[in-house]
Amino acid sequence: MATVKAAILGFGTVGQGIYRIVNERKEQLAARTGAPIEIAAILVRNLERPRPDTPGVLVTDRFEDILAIPDLDVVFEAIVGEEPAGTYLEQAIAAGCHVVTANKVMYAKAGASLEAFARESGTGVGYEATVAGGVPVIKTIQNLNLANSITGIQGILNGTSNFILTKMRKEECSFADALKEAQELGYAEADPTNDVSGFDAFCKLMILSGLAFGEQPDWEHVPMDGIDKLTLDEVIDADRQGLRYRHIADVRRGEDGEILASVGPVLIGPDHPLYGVDGVDNAVAIETAYAGTLTVTGPGAGMYPTASVMVEDAAVLLKQPFRKLVTD
Ligand code: NDP
Ligand code: HSE
Repeated sequence: MATVKAAILGFGTVGQGIYRIVNERKEQLAARTGAPIEIAAILVRNLERPRPDTPGVLVTDRFEDILAIPDLDVVFEAIVGEEPAGTYLEQAIAAGCHVVTANKVMYAKAGASLEAFARESGTGVGYEATVAGGVPVIKTIQNLNLANSITGIQGILNGTSNFILTKMRKEECSFADALKEAQELGYAEADPTNDVSGFDAFCKLMILSGLAFGEQPDWEHVPMDGIDKLTLDEVIDADRQGLRYRHIADVRRGEDGEILASVGPVLIGPDHPLYGVDGVDNAVAIETAYAGTLTVTGPGAGMYPTASVMVEDAAVLLKQPFRKLVTD
């Protein structure tokens, strides 16, 4: 049985989760995809940082070393920010690799062109982990949008924000303490600005818009706010009145056909479908023409939920008959 060779870009929370799952599920993956997966190399930024042992795996800070691996099949991308991640994935596709990413900041901008390039190149792109962590919202939408159509999407898309709002409400915890715990648990980004300012949920919403409607709204025209301006008193006062703040991202096609979107904290009552979604959980309500509203809920961040959907994406790509073209 031939071995599938994979590389992991980034070895923080998500990258380490991929490494663990691929090794913990070696036999299962081999049986279900037809070939064992071997992590051949890992890319990091700082080689001096202490890390878990990865015997027999090349650990490098040079992307050229990754591309030089003979017969590399899959590149998992779990680094941070738009660049160099976008360029790395473009180069990996050009080298004939399937790519799987968790990087929503990169994918909100570069996703459409990466997918088109992969199609031309006979490889595939997996991006389930870019939106709502372990919740399979991308595959759900892909499976709903052929005969059916999507009219609107509303969701809690940032696990850190929901975790913080829940801690503030239930435990009267300060914003700073709740954020610190979200960082320790691996939910928040190393720089949590995007989590609490709303930009992380905004990027996820743009990815969902592209998938559901084939286009994104003009980014400049989308009102965006985070939870960073809410005070503990406001959260507690709302709770006493039976209301809850949720950080909600919403996108829909307006009557004249334009895409309307918004991202920000909203005060909701017990009748709202997102009222009961607590902690790091995300929930996405997908409004459809024929099937009513379908809601998927689950862990929106964290090592295993996120890494598991990435390994799942890779397994799906490996099972498909691709025409693999390597450009010289
Ligand atoms: P971490 O900060 O824990 O890890 C990031 C890793 O990427 C580190 O190993 C870092 O290297 C490496 N890295 C960063 N920049 C570069 C670069 N330019 N070249 C090479 N390596 C680089 O992040 P996470 O694992 O939490 O997140 C990774 C990605 O997944 C992000 O895009 C994030 O938004 C996304 N994501 C995260 C989720 C989560 O629950 N944590 C959930 C869903 C998506 P070094 O250690 O040497 O600094
Ligand atoms: N920091 C992100 C969150 C990770 O809290 O939702 C998942 O994309």
